[in-house]
Amino acid sequence: MKLANATVLVTGANRGLGRALVTASLALGARRVYAGSRDLSKLSPEDRVVPLQLDIDDPRSLAAAAERAPDVTLLVNNAGVLLSGSVLTSSPAQIAQEFTTNVFGTLAATRAFVPALERNKGAVLNVLSVVSLANMPGLGVYSAAKAASYSLTQALRADLAKLGVRVHAAFPGAIDTDMVRAMEMAKTSPADVANGLLVGLEQDRDDIIPDAMARELYAMWERDPRELARALASMG
Ligand SMILES: NC(=O)c1ccc[n+]([C@@H]2O[C@H](COP(=O)([O-])OP(=O)(O)OC[C@H]3O[C@@H](n4cnc5c(N)ncnc54)[C@H](OP(=O)(O)O)[C@@H]3O)[C@@H](O)[C@H]2O)c1
Repeated sequence: MKLANATVLVTGANRGLGRALVTASLALGARRVYAGSRDLSKLSPEDRVVPLQLDIDDPRSLAAAAERAPDVTLLVNNAGVLLSGSVLTSSPAQIAQEFTTNVFGTLAATRAFVPALERNKGAVLNVLSVVSLANMPGLGVYSAAKAASYSLTQALRADLAKLGVRVHAAFPGAIDTDMVRAMEMAKTSPADVANGLLVGLEQDRDDIIPDAMARELYAMWERDPRELARALASMG
């Protein structure tokens, strides 16, 4: 789909990649961008941007948002959390929260907007990760949640195609945001990743690989998924 004249909803729009996606959508000519945030005080007023209270873990918040934004043509499921580390040492609460937001909340957000997307013949862009493709043990729980979200994305792609709604999967590498602030590694700027995601969307790609690190790891996975698993395991 084209961003020109689109009505976009970005979840987790108040910082990081979400904020960059709002800016990039406006630059490509979106008519309106709903900026979803758990806390509206974290959003600054901007032309063509409509602040929208949105906690994807809260069914009532999702229902209210769907009612307030009936004209959405592109839902960007960007909101996510990284709280844990290894599958052996992460607390049960961290494990539960990573699945609550990254898997169940993301699915619930899509389901809440299916009526609008069907009516408007729209699209969904799910922000996954290269670690959806193979597990990185240093982020073992997060990788598992992002893999589950990838699987759900594939199911949604088939189901929503019957309703005329496209579903895109995005697999970024490391992005320079709060989420990985403490990790020493090469990272791509949120602005570059956001632009890469929207270019892929406009090219109508099923899988969108927005940055150089992701392209290298995705190519490895295409050659042999076990090669990517070994490479990510060696990163810790
Ligand atoms: N950073 C990376 O290296 C990287 C790499 C690949 C993929 N990703 C994915 O990219 C997406 C954006 O991540 P980021 O790097 O921008 O992270 P971030 O800087 O930590 O921002 C996360 C955003 O998600 C929001 N959020 C968290 N839980 C939410 C909930 N229940 N309901 C609504 N909003 C919620 C946060 O809101 P609050 O401000 O209220 O907490 C914040 O706006 C995530 O899906 C992440 O998994 C990130």
